[in-house]
Amino acid sequence: MIEWKALADRFGRYGASMASSPMYADLMSRCALDIVRGGPVARAMAGHEGAPGSAPPMRLLGAVHRLVLSERAPGLAPFYPSVGGVYDGDRAWPAFLAVVSAGVAGLDRTVQTNEVGRAAALLGGFHAVSLAYRQPLRLLEVGASAGLLLRFDSYRYGNAWGPADSPVRLAVPAMPLDPTLRVAERRGCDRSPVDPASEEGRLTLLSYVWADQLGRIERLRGALDVAARVPAVVDEADAVEWVRARLAEDPGGAVPVVYHSVVMQYLAPEARAAFAAAVVEADGPRAWLRFEPVEGTHTFVVTLTTWPGGEERVLAEAHPHGYDVRWLTT
Ligand SMILES: C[S@@+](CC[C@H](N)C(=O)[O-])C[C@H]1O[C@@H](n2cnc3c(N)ncnc32)[C@H](O)[C@@H]1O
Repeated sequence: MIEWKALADRFGRYGASMASSPMYADLMSRCALDIVRGGPVARAMAGHEGAPGSAPPMRLLGAVHRLVLSERAPGLAPFYPSVGGVYDGDRAWPAFLAVVSAGVAGLDRTVQTNEVGRAAALLGGFHAVSLAYRQPLRLLEVGASAGLLLRFDSYRYGNAWGPADSPVRLAVPAMPLDPTLRVAERRGCDRSPVDPASEEGRLTLLSYVWADQLGRIERLRGALDVAARVPAVVDEADAVEWVRARLAEDPGGAVPVVYHSVVMQYLAPEARAAFAAAVVEADGPRAWLRFEPVEGTHTFVVTLTTWPGGEERVLAEAHPHGYDVRWLTT
């Protein structure tokens, strides 16, 4: 039995929280009303409500965006900024309902993103490690998705660092940088990796970016182009065993940097504890860098722990997508 009111509430709550995407805020609130009335959105979502926390609003809007991006929704495309359109809610809504009524595939697909902007939040941490160890970095990213953050050194940060001709440009405040920083290895894991080189993988990542956030879309497209020429491995593996195995390997003259951004909330509390234990109890010099919310809050901070010694420092605070980095240490 479908809990229509609960589903409508979820769309309504998502809509209300999307201040940075007026288009999706509007579409979500229209969807919420449609669900209450038992309209096309309600019929499309029947059987696809998913488990609590599985973000049905993002699954629906992602699936529709995918159709638009792949030129399978020509009546709706003129209202999608991601393909050059202009959003106009009253004119877009009938076209949206027509697409939904005709059937949308992939409503059960897990929402999968890779937020390139988070490289700006992590940047100071990578440099802090390079400055402290004076060795190349062995990047070990957990929950790496398509591995776009494994190529952080191919992006340009203000006028401060990175290749000047990079297609990805990110803003950062003044922070200590190491001009000699070098990456020796790029390896990540994800329980469900996305292939950034395939059309399917590119479409998956683009479809879950909100269609009126052109800056995010432009950065993602740029990072996908970088990924086509800068190799990185993303193993299909679970975080805990993978990190234990990587940290048992000889780092070969590089310093291992285990890092993750917006991943820990997807691990059960026992897995989170096991992951932390695997990093803390490993041997040898290593760093643990993370961009995660402070428990029980919506404040996202960059934290760095280094061994030997296990010294922990909160380096920065930033928007969850990596904007507005506030550097907190000297
Ligand atoms: C919100 S995404 C963040 C992706 C990337 N870190 C970023 O900041 O763009 C969370 C990622 O964690 C992955 N993930 C969740 N649980 C995992 C686990 N137990 N082991 C490995 N990866 C996991 C998901 O598949 C997803 O790619």
